[in-house]
Amino acid sequence: MPNKRELPSVFKGLRLPVVGSPLFIVSNPELVIAQCCAGIVGSFPALNAREKDGDPIALEAWLKQITEALDAWNQANPDKPAAPYAVNQIVHRSNTRLERDLEICARWNVPIWITSLGAREEVNDAAHSCGGIALHDIINNTFAKKAISKGADGLIAVAAGAGGHAGPQSPFALVQEIREWFDGPLLLSGSIATGGAVLAAQAMGADLAYIGSPFIATNEANAMPAYKQMIADSGAEDIVLSSLFTGISGNYLKPSIAAAGMDPDALESADAKSMSFAEGSSKPKAWSQVWGAGQGIGAVKSVGPARALVDKLDREYREARSALCS
Ligand SMILES: Cc1cc2nc3c(=O)[nH]c(=O)nc-3n(C[C@H](O)[C@H](O)[C@H](O)COP(=O)(O)O)c2cc1C
Repeated sequence: MPNKRELPSVFKGLRLPVVGSPLFIVSNPELVIAQCCAGIVGSFPALNAREKDGDPIALEAWLKQITEALDAWNQANPDKPAAPYAVNQIVHRSNTRLERDLEICARWNVPIWITSLGAREEVNDAAHSCGGIALHDIINNTFAKKAISKGADGLIAVAAGAGGHAGPQSPFALVQEIREWFDGPLLLSGSIATGGAVLAAQAMGADLAYIGSPFIATNEANAMPAYKQMIADSGAEDIVLSSLFTGISGNYLKPSIAAAGMDPDALESADAKSMSFAEGSSKPKAWSQVWGAGQGIGAVKSVGPARALVDKLDREYREARSALCS
């Protein structure tokens, strides 16, 4: 493994090496602000900010709300500054808003850009044009090499067991292969739900953990109370991997599939061509009725404030580190 480069300055000063990952429909400004003020990077998919025809652009309003809230926090808490935030761009041909959203994010100087489903130079250029860094999510070493060759600054390795569109590979295999040639920022995603698992990700060679599903079970998340409670009540055996709902393999909560009238143990597969992020598409139903979650949710026992979850992760991380060192 090459010696790791120093992390970009945007990650300096985090309370915990964690990014609260972008969650379709679920991530909103309240959750992002709570994550950043608790000391971890908060993020949201740009597509979550949707306006009705003729209404002001919701993405502008969200970026204003987040920027102002973090500024106010920093003025009131100069000794505990907020972590930076990230915006996720879905780089897929069905995302007809991409160009508009890139321009808006560059104008708001978004510090961290997360790209999914397509590695494109112009998206990385847009991030760099305002001093931001671009992280691309990948599920194997081939896509990782392609992302870096297109100008991404860092990688998010999405391993088996992740919520949403998961990869098929073990995190050990994925991180080890990437670290053979890449010494830049590397985040690990998939079933990380305790502070000990955050430390394990670092021991493997990742710089930061990328955590999604546990944040669905927070007060701030934009999810139905039954969805939040199902996360708190479920474990790894309640998760099923299926391509039926979006055309790409993803992990979903079995009880939500049963509630939608299907047998979670007898799902057909679907073609990747059926995926669409266009407005008005029927596909968001995959997330609003059939609920996504990763295999790590056994660690989530209750619904509470996002800050309490970060406090718990931080406590567990420090305990795991001192237990290993003693
Ligand atoms: C409900 C749900 C929605 C998601 N939506 C997105 C998304 O819009 N964009 C994205 O890049 N990743 C998305 N993901 C993937 C997460 O950002 C992250 O990779 C994953 O949640 C990490 O695994 P974990 O849930 O086990 O922590 C989603 C995951 C879930 C569970």
